[in-house]
Amino acid sequence: MDKITVDNVELVLSHPLTFNVEWIGLNEPLRQLQACWLVLAESDLPLTPRIIGFPGIGKTTLGIAAARVRKQEVYVMQCTSDTRPEDLLVTPVLSESGKISYHASPLLSAVITGGVAILDEGNRMSEKSWASLAGLFDNRRTVESIVAGITVTAHKDFRAAVTMNDDSSTFEIPDYIMSRLQPGIQIPFPSRSDEMKILSFNLPFSEPQILEMCVEYLQKAHALDLPFSVRDGINAVRYTMKMNHADPGLETAELFRNAIRQILGEDALDLESLAARRKLSGSKIPSMNLGDYFFPEDEDLNPDNDEDFQA
Ligand SMILES: Nc1ncnc2c1ncn2[C@@H]1O[C@H](COP(=O)(O)OP(=O)(O)O)[C@@H](O)[C@H]1O
Ligand SMILES: [Mg+2]
Repeated sequence: MDKITVDNVELVLSHPLTFNVEWIGLNEPLRQLQACWLVLAESDLPLTPRIIGFPGIGKTTLGIAAARVRKQEVYVMQCTSDTRPEDLLVTPVLSESGKISYHASPLLSAVITGGVAILDEGNRMSEKSWASLAGLFDNRRTVESIVAGITVTAHKDFRAAVTMNDDSSTFEIPDYIMSRLQPGIQIPFPSRSDEMKILSFNLPFSEPQILEMCVEYLQKAHALDLPFSVRDGINAVRYTMKMNHADPGLETAELFRNAIRQILGEDALDLESLAARRKLSGSKIPSMNLGDYFFPEDEDLNPDNDEDFQA
């Protein structure tokens, strides 16, 4: 375990990610993120953008890939509704000998070592936790851990981005925090050829016929503004391939339909009527929302959690 001493307090650092990702197609969001992290003059500061888009569209992948282009270590900090301020910085751990050791979070490890921190699903985190980071994301670039009694100024190479789902199943982040997390980088649905490249890259062993079927399906869903993503597609192709292997006698198209049914639900088999009903669900009766019929209430894919679909 790597350790470092700050203000006479010894900290155990988190491990950076070890795996590599590659960003395929869609140059614009990658270019925007790289631009945010540039520092143009002595007095300039990097920006900490929000990477926004539907679940499974590639937000986390984009953040990691952009850090890899800069040849920096990446630390992913998973944010949840019960992430506390100390989880974001330093957690005291009682060892067997009865001594307390202080563990730096992935975020603080990036701050100290000059890595890239991806605050993943940042929209799920409470205002209280965000408040503890206000000074880190403005010109102070400083953060204070009450638990360890230390104040840390970020390494000059420290960079960060926050991923956020495009839905409302989350906390409202207050304006004074939002003003520090700028700009917003939106990841759009990929074009047909990019989507094919992304799927083939992630599923190099898969049959072209199944990939083709999947791209066709996803493109149709995107055109109808349904929130089905690359991740759903990857899962559907994987499952189709496995079922095909388990039972080679069955028709591939039928296996793909079954995969969609089991992954996205019965209604996802008829995209047009699903889209039409989602539009109607704007005039909704409480607890009778369309999404509740086929997605758990708090699920990312539940269209009722998506502001775009609320009239
Ligand atoms: N442009 C892309 N290039 C490479 N892989 C992608 C791309 N977009 C999506 N993916 C793949 O889609 C899946 C979901 O991406 P992820 O970054 O986890 O989505 P999100 O963070 O938005 O939920 C991952 O397996 C990822 O590899
Ligand atoms: Mg993610």
